[in-house]
Amino acid sequence: MKVLIVGGGGREHALAWKLCRDDPNINLIVAPGNPGIASIARCVPIGVDKLDDLANLAEEEMVDLTIVGPETPLEAGIANLFQSRGLPIFGPTREAARIETSKRFAKELMVRAGIPTARSVQHTDAKEAKAALADFSSPVVIKASGLAGGKGVIVAQSAVEAERAINAMLSDRVFGAAGREILIEEFMEGEEISLFAITDGQEALPLLAAQDHKRLHEGDFGPNTGGMGAYAPTSLATPGLVARGMSEIIRPTLAAMREAGSPFTGLLYAGLMVTSDGPKVVEFNCRFGDPETQALMPLMDSSLLELIAAVAGGGSLSRAKNPDWKPLSAVTTVVAAAGYPDKARTGDVIELPPCEKGVEIFHAGTARDPRTNELVTAGGRVLAVTAVASSLIEAAEISRSHAEQVSFKGKQLRRDIGWREVMRGARTT
Ligand code: AMP
Ligand code: GLY
Repeated sequence: MKVLIVGGGGREHALAWKLCRDDPNINLIVAPGNPGIASIARCVPIGVDKLDDLANLAEEEMVDLTIVGPETPLEAGIANLFQSRGLPIFGPTREAARIETSKRFAKELMVRAGIPTARSVQHTDAKEAKAALADFSSPVVIKASGLAGGKGVIVAQSAVEAERAINAMLSDRVFGAAGREILIEEFMEGEEISLFAITDGQEALPLLAAQDHKRLHEGDFGPNTGGMGAYAPTSLATPGLVARGMSEIIRPTLAAMREAGSPFTGLLYAGLMVTSDGPKVVEFNCRFGDPETQALMPLMDSSLLELIAAVAGGGSLSRAKNPDWKPLSAVTTVVAAAGYPDKARTGDVIELPPCEKGVEIFHAGTARDPRTNELVTAGGRVLAVTAVASSLIEAAEISRSHAEQVSFKGKQLRRDIGWREVMRGARTT
């Protein structure tokens, strides 16, 4: 089979790695890819925003299907374009991607469909927004409605902080157009899990639930990032909780999307707060999570490619069964560049340690120096180290020790990935 993956981060490296295992004869192209992906697939230097060029590539190469990693090309309508040209694609249309790209759209859909989520109001005017704070107690959450790279959310501990966030978004436009409209949202107490479902628009199959660490610093403090690490499985996601997530959240959301005239196909990612009243939606994403995918792919035993091929070709999942998982644990530690998440420094030479069995290094922000051919940093999250072992504690230790051995100037990593699960004392042997 010939497959094109759009993207060049750790998530796409993990997807490429998994597809190579699902079909050892696969002919895999990744655009633009990265130096790590280049060791297992052919990389073509076309950016994820070059939709026409990507469609031309898929057509010229006669690929059987295309998988889209990041949300930005989905928001720009890559699935619409490919579909109009008869090219099979795994990923939602621009209209369906609104479940992620417009928090307002997602919230209105959830309210209409009775899907459990935090109470919220929307505003475009700073004065009205501040007046609306009176109906919320602290902490309160202020969110930019549009895409802001995971950074458009502020949990304000006081009304003063909330007013400052409203000013920053609506008056100072710190998130540009993404913050033209904001949501003020009730704070939900609990821990968050990432529940991914592969869907043909009607049927949905859950992947193993994972947890990620969004904060920069150990203990889950500091600024929000794209994700500093992830792990699976998590004892928080009991079979009962996942069943509730599917029946109370994923399936009703898919039904509401069909009713809204924008059926969702591809990968629906529900960020769920596990509260004392059950799971509630924090946010939806319209694509695989990063870095959760780097933790999940090495654990997935059955074929991902078969499921993706069924959906991308417009087929049905009604005969497909839930994927199988290795009875092991995976922990992914992200190694980030100096300055991340503000302004990441680039161009630092990277040295990688040898990896023992069960350890994979997935590249994200890496590049080859054109003069020396050395591997150098080229983005905020540089790479992710995933370790698979029979217990979470062991996987965490192996992932951490390998990540410590990755060397480049100013590297940042968290040494406590999975700590909540470790504290719960869970072992999955
Ligand atoms: P989002 O981009 O909507 O996923 O938000 C980023 C992070 O902010 C989430 O992962 C949560 O940790 C936190 N967050 C967002 N909304 C809420 C909420 N209503 N209650 C508590 N925490 C939230
Ligand atoms: N892990 C968070 C995200 O992919 O958005």
